[in-house]
This record gives sequence, C-alpha cells and structure tokens, in this order.
Amino acid sequence: MQYRKFGKLDKEFSALGFGTMRLPVIDGQDANVDEAAAIEMMRYAIDNGVNYFDTAHPYHGGNSETVVGKALSGGYRDKVAVATKLPPWEVQTPADFDRLLDEQIAKLGCGHVDMYLLHCLQWKWWPMLRDMGILEWLEGARKDGRIAEAGFSFHDNVDIFKEIVDAYDWAFCQIQYNYVNEDVQAGTEGLKYASDKGLAVIVMEPLFGGTLASPGGAVGEIWSEANLDPVDTALQWLWNKPEVSLVLSGMSDMQQTRANIASADRSGVGSLSAQAAETVERVQAKYGEISTVPCTKCRYCMPCPTGVEIPQNFEYYNAALTFEGNARSLHRNLYVAQRDEQKAAACIQCGLCEEKCPQGIAISSLMPVVDKELS
Ligand SMILES: NC(=O)c1ccc[n+]([C@@H]2O[C@H](COP(=O)([O-])OP(=O)(O)OC[C@H]3O[C@@H](n4cnc5c(N)ncnc54)[C@H](OP(=O)(O)O)[C@@H]3O)[C@@H](O)[C@H]2O)c1
Repeated sequence: MQYRKFGKLDKEFSALGFGTMRLPVIDGQDANVDEAAAIEMMRYAIDNGVNYFDTAHPYHGGNSETVVGKALSGGYRDKVAVATKLPPWEVQTPADFDRLLDEQIAKLGCGHVDMYLLHCLQWKWWPMLRDMGILEWLEGARKDGRIAEAGFSFHDNVDIFKEIVDAYDWAFCQIQYNYVNEDVQAGTEGLKYASDKGLAVIVMEPLFGGTLASPGGAVGEIWSEANLDPVDTALQWLWNKPEVSLVLSGMSDMQQTRANIASADRSGVGSLSAQAAETVERVQAKYGEISTVPCTKCRYCMPCPTGVEIPQNFEYYNAALTFEGNARSLHRNLYVAQRDEQKAAACIQCGLCEEKCPQGIAISSLMPVVDKELS
C-alpha cells in the first residue's frame, strides 16, 4: 500500500480510503447491509494496508456506522482512523451536536472519532451551523477527546467552499472530485485552494458514484481502443495529483475491494502514463458531448414522500440516453417494470428532494422529462 502525507498534520494515511456508503446489501434494500460480506471486505482492506474508514449518520439507513463498528472490533480499531459526520439536517438546537456525536460514538463503539466532519456543507447548512456555534463546539469536542480532528464535506460552489476553508483552522476537507468534475462544485480550483492552505483534501465519488466504472457506447469504445481499465485509470488520474491526500472509494463487493487496493499499490504522483492522460482527455470530451443528469446515486434525496425511486429513475434515463442498441431498450423496459409509485410519473413536484440533492439537480422538473423519454 502507498501512504500519503495528510495535509499539515503529522500523519500519513493509505492512498485508498474505504467509503462505507455503498456496502453490499441484501435483496436490494439499502438499509439491509449484508454484514458478513461487508465485514469481510473491510477487514481484508485493513489487512492489506487501508487505514482510513469513512462513514456517516445516514448511510444505509443509519446502519453503516453500526457495521463499521462491528468490523473494527476484535483488534482492528487501533489499526485505522475512523471518520464520521455530523448531519446538519438532524440539528434543531446546539444541544443536538453533543447528542448526535455521543450516539455516533456509541454506535461505532470506537471510543472516539478520529476524523469528524460537518456533513454536506452547502449554502443552507454552513451558516446555520456557524451561527449555532459549531466552530466553538468543535474546539470543545477536540479538547474533551471525543474527536481528534475536525473537517467538513462539501457540495456547493467554489466561492462558498473558499469561505468555509477560510473560516476555521480545519485539518481536512472532503470534496467530490473526478475527471468529469474538474469544474463542478469545489473542482480543481477548490482542490488547489484548500491544499495550498495546508488542509488535507479527501476525494469522494472518484468514479462519480460508479458512473465512470463501466461506460458503454462511444465512451466505452474509447476505453476499449486504448486497452485501459476505466476504473484504474480514473483512480490513478486522482493519485497523480499532489494535492489529493486520499481517495475514498465506496466499494460494493470483494472484487472491487481487491482491484482498488491493487490500484492503490501502484499509485503515486507522476505515475499516470501519457497514454492514460490522453485517453482521459478524449473521454472528458466525449462526456461533454453526451450531457445527461449528473446524479451520483448518493440517495441524499431519499426517501421521497410519495415513493418515487429518484436515483433509479435517473440511472435508467442516463443509461437510455448514453448507451445504444439493446442497452437502451433494456433501460426503458426497466423503467416501465417499476411499481407505479416508484416511477418518475408519480412525482408530485413537492421539491423536498431538491433541498437535499448535493448536485443541485432540478429533480421536480426533470421527473416529467424522464417519464416522457422512458414510458
Ligand atoms: N460526505 C458526503 O457528502 C459524501 C457524498 C458521497 C460520498 N461520500 C463518501 O465517499 C465515499 C466514496 O464515494 P462513492 O461511494 O460515490 O465512490 P465512487 O468510487 O465514485 O463510487 C462507488 C461505486 O463505484 C463502483 N466501483 C468502485 N470500484 C469499482 C471497481 N473496482 N470496479 C467496478 N466498479 C467499481 C461501484 O458501483 P456498483 O456497485 O454500481 O458497481 C461502487 O458502488 C462514499 O462511500 C462515502 O463514504 C461522502
């Protein structure tokens, strides 16, 4: 495993961190984590050098923290740093800061949290938390030992990102970043800005939630011609950058875990080949031509009050537009096969999902478009 310096801290972590938002589940139920499989994957990762684990209060319907805690029992806890996050949407008063952190430490059974993040900071949550005294509270929680380092994860534009970076002596931040998001959210500008200020920068959604993993159509052809693995190349593209401290991957099975650890073993600044860099540029240009909905299936928009399966509808829509031939009709059929309340057509345009979408997708206005295209 390759290890990288973590910003201004006197710490090094594995190039690859384990994101626990996309653990294996039973019967397709997001909250029903396949614990045995997930624990086997997590322990395999630790045994092979991964020493950073990222979870959060809402992942897998609240069960991700519990499963991470189980995986880290039996002597694994001391080998890794555990990161979890304060969910701003669960905060009504400042008293909730303590309540949530104490609940999380109890669920994780980890004694203390090494890396505590303010989750999903954006225009709405940042001023709310700041005005409730979150920065003073973080100082207190560090002093009493419940957390070691404070950071934030981010989904908004680069101006708000810079404002937050400058507001506190953060140890680290976490941004959505990959080769199709260079100018999205914090983007390359934010990556360099935070890194220059000494923050460690953790990358999330390195494969854009899996979208970059197995592209079909014209993009797939570019990868085939180049004879390169889209997953390995996307990860190496990130590790090639000195400003990236750690790449989190939400691995969903053992095969992905093994593959991404092998990729991390080969990683390093300056190790991306010229051919790989040139292929990424061709793929970027092609994705620019095929513009679809930037949904990463993070499921922050869920649950929908009327039961619409928002990420699934966007997945079928994007696939139907991007791919050709059988794949296109397959995704139309998948859309039609959903229960009526799951289909885009059942959207009542209440807009609750849009307040929670980190990508700022105009979900309510897109749902009729999706239905028209696929039904
Ligand atoms: N704080 C926040 O606001 C926030 C938001 C998003 C994510 N995160 C954190 O960041 C972590 C990483 O983000 P992410 O989960 O979106 O990462 P990602 O790497 O962009 O997407 C993960 C998905 O990529 C696919 N994948 C991964 N490795 C693969 C491989 N070797 N071969 C083929 N497919 C592969 C899998 O999709 P399939 O299962 O479909 O095959 C997997 O579920 C999350 O798990 C979470 O811990 C935080």
